[in-house]
Amino acid sequence: MRVDVVTIFPEYLDPLRAALLGKAIDRGLISVGVHDLRDWTHDVHKAVDDSPYGGGPGMVMKPQVWGAALDAVCTEATRLVVPTPAGRPFTQAMARELAGEEHLVFACGRYEGIDQRVVDDASRRVRVDEVSIGDYVLVGGEVAVLVVVEAVARLLPGVLGNPRSAAEDSFSDGLLEGPSYTRPEVWRELAVPEVLRSGNHRLIDRWRRDQALRRTWDRRPELVEALPEDALDKHDREL
Ligand code: ADE
Repeated sequence: MRVDVVTIFPEYLDPLRAALLGKAIDRGLISVGVHDLRDWTHDVHKAVDDSPYGGGPGMVMKPQVWGAALDAVCTEATRLVVPTPAGRPFTQAMARELAGEEHLVFACGRYEGIDQRVVDDASRRVRVDEVSIGDYVLVGGEVAVLVVVEAVARLLPGVLGNPRSAAEDSFSDGLLEGPSYTRPEVWRELAVPEVLRSGNHRLIDRWRRDQALRRTWDRRPELVEALPEDALDKHDREL
């Protein structure tokens, strides 16, 4: 997969090259380009923003600069992702969808956003998603890009050591993952649940399922409500 990010703060994306993602880059599973939006300005001040039509606080990013940048970076195969608190919520389902793309381009807005015509124009040539990573406002899209790229990259074949890690995550079955334990058996007088040491895998699977359901019901009841009709078995319903 190829990932290109356009931003006025390229150094903000340095973490893309660290840890798991850095390893995926080194192994050729993913390649990343980070581009300075100001490279597409033509004035001495390298201005990327201007005051908003209609008035109001803040500045809006200029369409000409973004248009030139996206013309240079996008191809026919591109899926363009524009992080914004006004976007559709980013979910595990969207991460899976993006993991199937060959080229992702991220356009990081700052200030009050990017002139809407940039998205409208790009939509004439490529698929565009305006995406929010949560109901809070960040200063710009850069951190959202780190979030989205990490969620997508770990789903690419070969990035995680054990593919079951991705297959058995929180959200893979629509539920939050339950608790995990490792050695020692007792720590600060807290014992690992007996069933996990029983060696009975049918019972362990059932226990994990119960824990996941209870936790989801407690913390995110709307996720349980959203499960398809046949997602809960008889035992689940008795819980
Ligand atoms: N930019 C600013 N806030 C954001 C958010 N919550 N999600 C995505 N991009 C953003």
